[in-house]
Amino acid sequence: MTVKAYDSIKPIIWQDDTLQLLDQRLLPAEHTYISLNNVTEVAQAITDMVVRGAPAIGITAAYGIVIAARARFADNADNWQQAIEDDLQILAQSRPTAVNLFWAIDLMREVIKGLAVADPAATLLSIAKQIHEDDIAANVKMGNLGAQLIEGKCAVLTHCNAGALATGGYGTALGVIRSAFEQDKISLVYADETRPWLQGARLTAWEMVQEDIPVSLLVEGAAAHMIKTSQATDTPIRWIIVGSDRIASNGDVANKIGTYALAVLARHHGIKFMVAAPTTTIDMNISCGDDIPIEERSIDEVLSCSGQHVAAIGAQARNPAFDVTPAELVDAIVTEKGVVLNPDFEKIKVMMANVD
Ligand code: MRU
Repeated sequence: MTVKAYDSIKPIIWQDDTLQLLDQRLLPAEHTYISLNNVTEVAQAITDMVVRGAPAIGITAAYGIVIAARARFADNADNWQQAIEDDLQILAQSRPTAVNLFWAIDLMREVIKGLAVADPAATLLSIAKQIHEDDIAANVKMGNLGAQLIEGKCAVLTHCNAGALATGGYGTALGVIRSAFEQDKISLVYADETRPWLQGARLTAWEMVQEDIPVSLLVEGAAAHMIKTSQATDTPIRWIIVGSDRIASNGDVANKIGTYALAVLARHHGIKFMVAAPTTTIDMNISCGDDIPIEERSIDEVLSCSGQHVAAIGAQARNPAFDVTPAELVDAIVTEKGVVLNPDFEKIKVMMANVD
């Protein structure tokens, strides 16, 4: 089997019985792994953006629960199943928007309840590894499905980073882009730089460059101009392709702040808007996007740039990390279980009925 560049992008590694996270805050300048020793460190790494992206956060939490189980069982083999609930709560408080985090915690909690074995950590580790592998397999599937929607050769625009780094591997939105590029359907990828964490400039551009996929960075404010003016060129932007942190049962989509503006632009200019996400990102417990908790991060992230305070002293700021795109602006939701065009509750319910 050929080893592709994306195979070497591993945000999460379980090695020598330790969880290691690629420190995404340092990319692309430094490629450094951090070892996590306890559940508090795992939760802090999620909060601090060492690891980020909805599926990657869920996978990390699953491995974090293995570490927690090992410690709780060693401490008190009779009471560990009750005691570990505190650790699950610590993980649940690390970031609020990505539902994959809560999906992974709930799944592991159910397994823990039914466990009666001498070595619970080994069983939980096999489940965490399965979650990790299933995520990569789901991404490859949705990559192929999403690529089929793209007709002819065109440029696409993506936001934030929904690549190998944000998942177990391969990526959601970037998985679609990888598949479509292999099929010679993509001439150029425009990547929004994505203030304040610059996931587009640092991470998406890095992933694309490693695979020789042509990538052109935009400041967010340039998207409207580029969409409009590219139409008359030989590289028209025909699709906006993004990932998601949580999709409500009616098809409303939470994703990195700025995504909603892109969906409005897409509709105005008659281009298509695709969301690629595994079914673990779909929250059937909420009826619409208004119920999705939107993370507000420190205003220092907005007032500063690369650790340097740049805003006028005394200025206030807001820093919502996500926004919600209404389902009516979404042309396609692509999951590993299929494509939902013009999503609504009924269509999503039918697709989710196929999830094991
Ligand atoms: O704040 P981040 O970097 O965790 O935000 C990530 C995103 O918004 C991604 O688009 C989303 O999680 C999908 S990742 C496949």
